[in-house]
Amino acid sequence: MDFKNLISHCKEYGFIFQSSEIYDGLSAAYDYGPNGVELKNNIKQYWWKSMVQMHDNITGIDASIFMHPKTWKASGHVDAFNDPLIDNKDSKKRYRADQLIEGYTEKIENKIKKDVEKARKRFGDSFDEKQFRETNGRIIDRQKKIDDILSTMNKALTDENMEGLRNLIVDLDIACPESGSRNWTEVRQFNLMFSTQLGNIAGEEGKLYLRPETAQGIFVNFLNVQKSMRQKVPFGIAQIGKAFRNEIVARQFIFRMREFEQMEMQFFVKPGTQHEWYNYWKETRLKWHKALGTPESKLRFHDHENLAHYADAAVDIEFEFPFGFRELEGIHSRTDFDLMAHQQLSGKKLQYFDPSINENYVPYVVETSIGCDRMFLAQIANNLVEEVVPDADGKDSTRVVMKLHPSIAPVKVAVLPLVKNKEEFTNAAKDIFGQLKKSFNCQYDEKDGIGRRYRRQDAIGTPYCVTIDGTTLEDGTVTLRERDSLNQNRVNIADLKSKVFAGTDMGNLI
Ligand code: GAP
Repeated sequence: MDFKNLISHCKEYGFIFQSSEIYDGLSAAYDYGPNGVELKNNIKQYWWKSMVQMHDNITGIDASIFMHPKTWKASGHVDAFNDPLIDNKDSKKRYRADQLIEGYTEKIENKIKKDVEKARKRFGDSFDEKQFRETNGRIIDRQKKIDDILSTMNKALTDENMEGLRNLIVDLDIACPESGSRNWTEVRQFNLMFSTQLGNIAGEEGKLYLRPETAQGIFVNFLNVQKSMRQKVPFGIAQIGKAFRNEIVARQFIFRMREFEQMEMQFFVKPGTQHEWYNYWKETRLKWHKALGTPESKLRFHDHENLAHYADAAVDIEFEFPFGFRELEGIHSRTDFDLMAHQQLSGKKLQYFDPSINENYVPYVVETSIGCDRMFLAQIANNLVEEVVPDADGKDSTRVVMKLHPSIAPVKVAVLPLVKNKEEFTNAAKDIFGQLKKSFNCQYDEKDGIGRRYRRQDAIGTPYCVTIDGTTLEDGTVTLRERDSLNQNRVNIADLKSKVFAGTDMGNLI
């Protein structure tokens, strides 16, 4: 489904609404509706179960959003959490310089893709894409151009060479997407943290930041958790919570927002073992994505060339969103940067005594960090499809179906009396609904014909529909309809709970 239709579907079916819509909306802020909050909670639960519950050496915390302002000085966010910005003097629009340059290389990449597709059609089954990309002269030239541009850009970013970035934009003749003009300002660094003020302290001293990542709440609690839980290195601390960034170019729906939610885990390891653990978490996290049914072809690793100030290795797990491959999750080997910096600025030791070697050290950290909202978007994008299926009369009909893994579907089972104006049917259906809702998130629906009700459930990804009809009253069986296969089987009411449980249990995933 294309991106525009995906966004309207999310609104129509109660997944996501624009924030403050009645006031024409607030850009880059979104509200999760009744089905959206269920799906989001299930995603969080899946993450928490597999990270915390399934690892004896990982525990969770829920730290506050406000932290002592020195936290952000130590972490480097006050000085280095910046985006390079450039304004177009004619349109007055502001852009991230690196994104303008990447937009330019994406256009070249699209030309390459077109050539590949043309060749695929020409050569048919015998087409070897890898070989074609490696031997076709035009593609080689274009790829080299992309690589050269990105490497110049990355060097300028690493060296904080703002003039270099501007020169690249000018040399590539990049125009403002809005006005078409090339009348650019200088490139300047812009800090992404939102700040606010404590009520009882005036001036700089009372300046607080909304956390731009949840990770720092974990670092400052490293010893509290280690001691209270009597953890031994290696061990991890996990957290799910809101983070805030004053993103300049916030677009693409819930992909890049100013208020979003992160699911982060810091894994504390013995110095020198970080690369082993980095590889372990890379593979473990990729498996987590694949277990939900996301195909391998839509996921890929992308190593960072331009490492953040705290990392000695970093990789993104990218997902193919409707607008191309983009970062979904980051895995970062953060060394001892954060603990050391907090130790220094706070004057409090953040060391671990390792009984196996009788030594104190500051552990190294491998972090896994995924945006809950991006994961939500990836799941919708991967699973919302339009397909042709036979209708009740055996004719072809089109349905929109969200093929989410049943364990994260917002509603697990819908209970539907075949007709609404027969009390025997509705009473029996309400009885079944009353029983099932104790165990699952269920919906009761008696409005419209049964076909339309099935379609409504398909559109929100409900894996099971239970239909109550005349036979139910005679022999205590119902029809259990399965979303993906469309199979309809008669099932005893007494067996419903175990059947739905078997098909939707999150334990199947982990
Ligand atoms: N603690 C490390 C850290 O915050 P990051 O790569 O800046 O690393 C981690 O962010 C994840 O958070 C990203 O992979 C992405 O899924 C999500 N994320 C970051 N900025 C976001 C934004 N503005 N809107 C939505 N999700 C965002």
